[in-house]
Amino acid sequence: MSEQNPAPQQANEDYSPSRRAFHLAVINIFGALIGLALAVPTGIYLLTAPRKRGGTKWIDAGDVGQINPGTPVELSFQESRLDGWRLVTEKKTAWVVKNTDSSIVAFGPQCTHLGCAYHVENGQFVCPCHTSIFSLDGKVTAGPAPRPLDRYETKIENNRLQIGDLKQQA
Ligand code: FES
Repeated sequence: MSEQNPAPQQANEDYSPSRRAFHLAVINIFGALIGLALAVPTGIYLLTAPRKRGGTKWIDAGDVGQINPGTPVELSFQESRLDGWRLVTEKKTAWVVKNTDSSIVAFGPQCTHLGCAYHVENGQFVCPCHTSIFSLDGKVTAGPAPRPLDRYETKIENNRLQIGDLKQQA
């Protein structure tokens, strides 16, 4: 009778408590390694702050020698900025006016009424949406625009225009 069913006893001997403990330990170690592999990058992503922008970032917008005094020129340039953790590059424009004393003013391309793009007409900036008109120094001369054109910070380096942040004018 006892020889009729020897297999269960043999199976129990093959799967002794120490072997079971070893397998459980290996499974637990693999589980812990997988958890660690997922947790470390997730923790770094969530706990580290995105890079902060320090001060004004200057962007080269072109040769100022090509601009004639009193004639507005629309210049385009590429701005890279950090959007959360992504680096985004955008094409931007500025209306640039060189004064007779060679100082440079760069205006934001949007009307200060509702943000339409304006253009140059008869030596002034004209917005087609509600006919606001701005003089070449950015002041409102007609229409509903509530304030002068916004200005970019500018500086000249090696005869090239460097454009910084866009600032609202009072
Ligand atoms: S958006 Fe320019 S006048 Fe209204």
